[in-house]
Amino acid sequence: MPESITITDNRTGESIEVPIVDGGVDAAAWRKLLPNVWFLDPSFSTTAATTSAVSEVDGENGILRYRGYPIEQLAEHSTFLEVAYLLLHGELPTPGEYDKWVYDITHHTFIHERFRKRFMESFLHDAHPMGMFVSTIAALSTFYPEAKDIDDSQNRMHQIVRLIAKVPTVAAAGSRFNSGLPFVYPDNNLDFATNFLSMMFKIAEPTYECDPAMSRALDLLLITHADHGQNCSTSTARVVGSAHTDPYSVIAAAACSLYGPRHGGANQAVMEMLYEIGSYENIDPFIKAVKAGETRLMGFGHRVYKNYDPRARIIKDAAYDVFEVTGSNPLLDIALKLEEVALGDDYFVSRRLYPNVDFYSGLIYQSMGFPTDMFTVLFAIARTAGWLAHWVELLEQDSRIARPRQVYTGSTERTYTPITERS
Ligand code: SDX
Repeated sequence: MPESITITDNRTGESIEVPIVDGGVDAAAWRKLLPNVWFLDPSFSTTAATTSAVSEVDGENGILRYRGYPIEQLAEHSTFLEVAYLLLHGELPTPGEYDKWVYDITHHTFIHERFRKRFMESFLHDAHPMGMFVSTIAALSTFYPEAKDIDDSQNRMHQIVRLIAKVPTVAAAGSRFNSGLPFVYPDNNLDFATNFLSMMFKIAEPTYECDPAMSRALDLLLITHADHGQNCSTSTARVVGSAHTDPYSVIAAAACSLYGPRHGGANQAVMEMLYEIGSYENIDPFIKAVKAGETRLMGFGHRVYKNYDPRARIIKDAAYDVFEVTGSNPLLDIALKLEEVALGDDYFVSRRLYPNVDFYSGLIYQSMGFPTDMFTVLFAIARTAGWLAHWVELLEQDSRIARPRQVYTGSTERTYTPITERS
């Protein structure tokens, strides 16, 4: 059987055969046959906006690979900075490449002092740290006007290093401002994850120290959140990047998309849900409300995964390592019971709703001491590497500006009537 499809326009009887290549068919082929007829797909459930080699998400089988490497292997053996290098360069670094990459990132973690004080401290004391994050990253574009020269690959990489290095500093600065604690400067003697923990939690000690299990768990969480195909925020990055906007504005736009509770905001929503449920007795009434459509089981369901999200499994296992140090999180029992009840209920099974990456991550973040409204910011720190990898891929594909079509269903032409003649 040929690897192709045939489309026939029954109005004319004309047909075309379109080859199936890498699981896709090129829309340009049918545009000739069907001018001004558009395949309607409002949430991109069925159409592909691009080809990509960055990560592979096999929803039926619950598989995630970054540049071909299974997420389980990267979570076990790699570091976030090595994964960031892999996503951006397509290959794992040699020891020399890795050392230079780590050195470059480590030496770009500072943000302009006056900017931090005057801009970030102008927010209200209770500003959501994600709102501070997206605003501050966008404002960073004003510090690096040369970032607009997106055609210079060396300049691109310089801005990429700056962004990966500075997002933890911006994130921690926002959180410290919220909690009324003094800003903690980056410590170049610490690794990426430990440095972020230091900027978040260091008080008066000369040098921040933490249990290695904590920095390892954070690094693992950053790895599992680093990339995930054409998710909502990555698609936003690609659309904004297709207009040849600077990378700071691209990342800020992507972070705005991640902020939503259906996407990266779900980890905060899961914790709020677990608090609302509060005890075993409330689980059945809550599940009834979900099945009645009154609310959603946050941290469950996924557009692509119709199987267990492999990241959820990794994070669930990592939670126990953290709880060894911090003591168990009382909400864990409720989460485990919720999962057990949902996976035994036809409402969820029939809709193929399983725990996703957000279901257990909040429990770890909370046990590590992160404020709940920082959870999405943690997601953004990790996903900055993925967003940038897709931004580079988009520019190297030399793609055209994103401009979807529409199926117009509004009024046909009509004549303006002066307001005095309107009843
Ligand atoms: C992330 O795309 C990515 O890769 C995202 C992400 C990444 O790494 O970038 O994986 C990260 O965003 C994970 C998802 C985090 N969001 C949540 O946990 C929020 C809760 N989940 C949902 O709102 C929902 O599942 C989505 C948004 C994740 C997916 O929505 P879809 O694919 O549009 O599915 P849908 O809303 O059309 O739901 C299909 C059915 C509906 O029931 P019926 O209308 O058929 O009766 O499933 C039901 C929905 O009501 N459903 C849920 C549900 N999710 C879907 N019912 C209860 N609880 C849920 N969580």
